[in-house]
Amino acid sequence: MSVPIVRTVAELRRTVADWRADGNRVAVVPTMGALHEGHLSLVRAALAEADRVIVTLFVNPKQFNSAADLAAYPRTEVEDAAKLTPVGAHLLYCPDGGEMYPSGFSTTVSVAGVSEGLCGAFRPGHFDGVSTVVAKLFLQTGADLAFFGEKDYQQLHVVKRLAADIDMPIEVTGCPTIREPDGLALSSRNVRLSPEQRVVAPALARVLFSLADRIASGAPAAPVLADGRAQLLAAGYREVEYLELRSSDDLSPVSDAARPARLLAAAWLGETRLIDNVPVPSGTLSNA
Ligand code: PAF
Repeated sequence: MSVPIVRTVAELRRTVADWRADGNRVAVVPTMGALHEGHLSLVRAALAEADRVIVTLFVNPKQFNSAADLAAYPRTEVEDAAKLTPVGAHLLYCPDGGEMYPSGFSTTVSVAGVSEGLCGAFRPGHFDGVSTVVAKLFLQTGADLAFFGEKDYQQLHVVKRLAADIDMPIEVTGCPTIREPDGLALSSRNVRLSPEQRVVAPALARVLFSLADRIASGAPAAPVLADGRAQLLAAGYREVEYLELRSSDDLSPVSDAARPARLLAAAWLGETRLIDNVPVPSGTLSNA
């Protein structure tokens, strides 16, 4: 049987109420569709922890910075449902724009601090759009657990902060980035790469992992990051928006790996913007 699809909040709430009446623990995996193995890994992680798993599919206009980007975003509901069925998701929630943002909708949910800098600096309003829709999805599903990919590391921090700050009774879990064999992080945007760009794309992960090793061995971050930018441009990236070392705990800027840190980058390959991040282990600093 294919995964059941519901399109309204009322229908969603009725289904979840029935599950709860039977004592089930409910998880949600929010997505914008165009599902790939990264999303499916989140569904599997959710299935391991919960009795019922809802996948949401809503291409959220509030988090896009340009109408062209929103229009170009893949919409593949039929294929997405077909991918979810064998994995065992219990429900696909696909509201339309009017269901999510009915006429007169006027509320914005905004998380300060962790949403600033990095992607927040280059995509004004993006995290307000994410926070607003995620708050609604959490409330609409009433889920106990939510699963997000570490690929969108800043988003994961924003969502955790949101849930904690307004006392949402939901536990947010981050799951590891899934990569192609050559290291490229899976992303719905990868399909936009030309064959030539696809060859260049893994340089982002390659450079990040090699910089992380250097910083973990005690090299000061600033020159390593400058070198990383040069390496990405030499590899064929058109522009590096940011390449930064941040604390894994709260995303504050750090200059070495004295505490657990994360290297994060966004770079343009032609007209495609790719992001990635890798952990920088702490505790391996030399005393030099
Ligand atoms: O990561 C995404 O796909 C989106 O930002 C999310 C969390 C589904 C909100 O629209």
